[in-house]
Amino acid sequence: MMRADALLSRFGYCSRREAANWLRDGRVSHRGSKVSNPAERLSPEQVLVDGVPVPFPNGLFVALHKPVGYICSHSREDDSPTIFELLPPSWIARSPSVQSVGRLDKETSGLLLLSDDGGLVHALTSPRRHIQKVYEYRTVSPVPPKATALFASGSFTLNGEKTPCLPATLEPDATDPYHGLLHLHEGRYHQVRRMLAAVGAPVEKLTRVAIGPLQLSSLSLRPGEWISVNPKLFTSVP
Ligand code: URA
Repeated sequence: MMRADALLSRFGYCSRREAANWLRDGRVSHRGSKVSNPAERLSPEQVLVDGVPVPFPNGLFVALHKPVGYICSHSREDDSPTIFELLPPSWIARSPSVQSVGRLDKETSGLLLLSDDGGLVHALTSPRRHIQKVYEYRTVSPVPPKATALFASGSFTLNGEKTPCLPATLEPDATDPYHGLLHLHEGRYHQVRRMLAAVGAPVEKLTRVAIGPLQLSSLSLRPGEWISVNPKLFTSVP
């Protein structure tokens, strides 16, 4: 239960100060009755605003198919659009705000999780969780066969870093040495691009196709589309 004015602000409708006007105008009802007192305590699942239920009253958790060209930041840089511009504007005004669970590069597409639950975002990005992420790559040169053992060794170290990468599984396409999958259990800066460049095969195209049990292909999302996901999927997943 939460105060009516706090609820309108929490879910991005208006500021707490503006809430009195919304209530005076009869825009909010709870369990079928109009709410006029900003201090009235409401249960978010039972609230209608302008006749419409509050979206994600128990916290927002969605999977987005990030398109190429969008940045994972709250503000535009060099005029690049942000992933948050793909979401309904009221989500952006939620407080706490919606954040991405980790980031994908501007030129990388694929699966990205978003949530307004800071604890959940923190838990899912914790380096101790080692949640598996799978990337589909296309390179400009063939990936040499030795890369598979090198990446799996646990002793491969990226340029400029001291700690070796965790063992990673390279799954090259049997018939196409320019194409395959790379399974990682960590997320370092530009990691896939740097790993493949280190073996002489710079990336031409990169897509994240899975995070833990969630597969992009099973979600039927076109680039720019999102879908609600149950966070319980990730509670016990390596
Ligand atoms: N590795 C990369 O190089 N880029 C990403 O966006 C994600 C992983």
